[in-house]
Amino acid sequence: MNNIQAQDKNSQFCVLNETQEKEPLKVIKNNYRNNINSDYTEKIEELDKAFKYSSNSNYYWSAPELSLLYGTPLYEAASPSQKIALNHLYWVSQYNFTALAETETIHYNQITGGCFSAMGGDYETIARQLEHESVQERSHIHAFYKVNYQTMKALLGKQAFIKPLKNKLEQPSWVSSQLPTYQYNTLRFLSKMMLKGKEQYYSQYLKKFEEEDKLSKLSNGFFHGRGFIPQSLLRFFALNWGSSPFLSSQYYTLRYMGNMLLKNIEYSIYAYFKKLQKQGEFVPVPTAISHYHLLDEAFHTTTSLFLARDVYKLLPKPTAYEKIVVNLAIYLIQTNNFNGLSGVVNKRCFKDDRSLMADIFKLLQSPLFGMSTQEALHWMEKCFCHEHEGYHLSAKSYQRLLSELRRFGDNLDYLWPINREMRVMASGGSIDQAIKNNIKTFKDFSSSVAHA
Ligand SMILES: [Fe+2]
Ligand SMILES: [Fe+2]
Repeated sequence: MNNIQAQDKNSQFCVLNETQEKEPLKVIKNNYRNNINSDYTEKIEELDKAFKYSSNSNYYWSAPELSLLYGTPLYEAASPSQKIALNHLYWVSQYNFTALAETETIHYNQITGGCFSAMGGDYETIARQLEHESVQERSHIHAFYKVNYQTMKALLGKQAFIKPLKNKLEQPSWVSSQLPTYQYNTLRFLSKMMLKGKEQYYSQYLKKFEEEDKLSKLSNGFFHGRGFIPQSLLRFFALNWGSSPFLSSQYYTLRYMGNMLLKNIEYSIYAYFKKLQKQGEFVPVPTAISHYHLLDEAFHTTTSLFLARDVYKLLPKPTAYEKIVVNLAIYLIQTNNFNGLSGVVNKRCFKDDRSLMADIFKLLQSPLFGMSTQEALHWMEKCFCHEHEGYHLSAKSYQRLLSELRRFGDNLDYLWPINREMRVMASGGSIDQAIKNNIKTFKDFSSSVAHA
């Protein structure tokens, strides 16, 4: 450990010559300026104000492939109005995840921003960009919730907001409560010891957050729908992201993975917007929100990419401890968020689970489909447990995202091979395996329903 500390103390910020050093920071400054000068957030705010579900209800909001259950036998049997509803519900489900992820992002922008501020000089610009991004996220989140609330109410009625099944049926198994305080304190002590000599970079926001005891109240970090890190370790990672320049910059490796996951979906809606516009057709408000959101998020993705891929090379070399923290986080992201194919939600990159099955069950029993328990389970078995087009579509987009993330990983020399090559994600790309997993999960789910 002494060697690690000594190595860190001997490292300097400016290890590169002036031109090399400034390049990524210049890009971040330009990105910040372009972001300030853009009006995409304002466009989203206008769309948010104007949105009324009734004026958008008869139109597809994206290509039919982006509909819940697309490619399944149930989709084939659905009526035209049910198909439109499934298209709207896909949008709702994705942007519900996005809103949760962006709520989380606001905290981490501030936690890491505090560290960049402490570094001073040109690094201050990064903190300002992150603050600006947080303001934009608040407008995005508001718009998503407005559309989602009205859409859910119109399509599923008030029961959409009531949980019909016991929580036990819906909760993914890895969601658990925080570590007991004494265990967290041990990890905290370990972090502090391993990060000795970096106290001057400790995020002031993080300090305040700790003093107000808010760290323990961090909600399960949603990373496009799921906590990217199990709840029990959330405080530990939050503490680390704001504690050293390297860890602050490498939080953005995780964020970049999240950015790519959303882009994987949103770019298709962006293309749909362009097609409608070109043909002079009506553009539904949610389609336009996605279009401007993609443009706004392009600034955020640039921030993530440059911080993750380039800025860390300007910083003191990471210690063994810092490398372990980031690698562990990426490994956990793979196991929780990039771990398999879905048969019923196109472009979702994690396995179908009981939580999703509970949502589909609720949907099939809603007035939209009006199925009995037996009918709902019968259709679910057909959709989850047998090969169909939906699985093939999912497999294609899964492989595309896998290649993109591997390309990105090639730039990060400190990654463990399992992370650089995204081996956990790669091992989850088989359709046969996804069906096998779903047969087992569905069996558990249907027996839970029988005993509920
Ligand atoms: Fe956003
Ligand atoms: Fe963002």
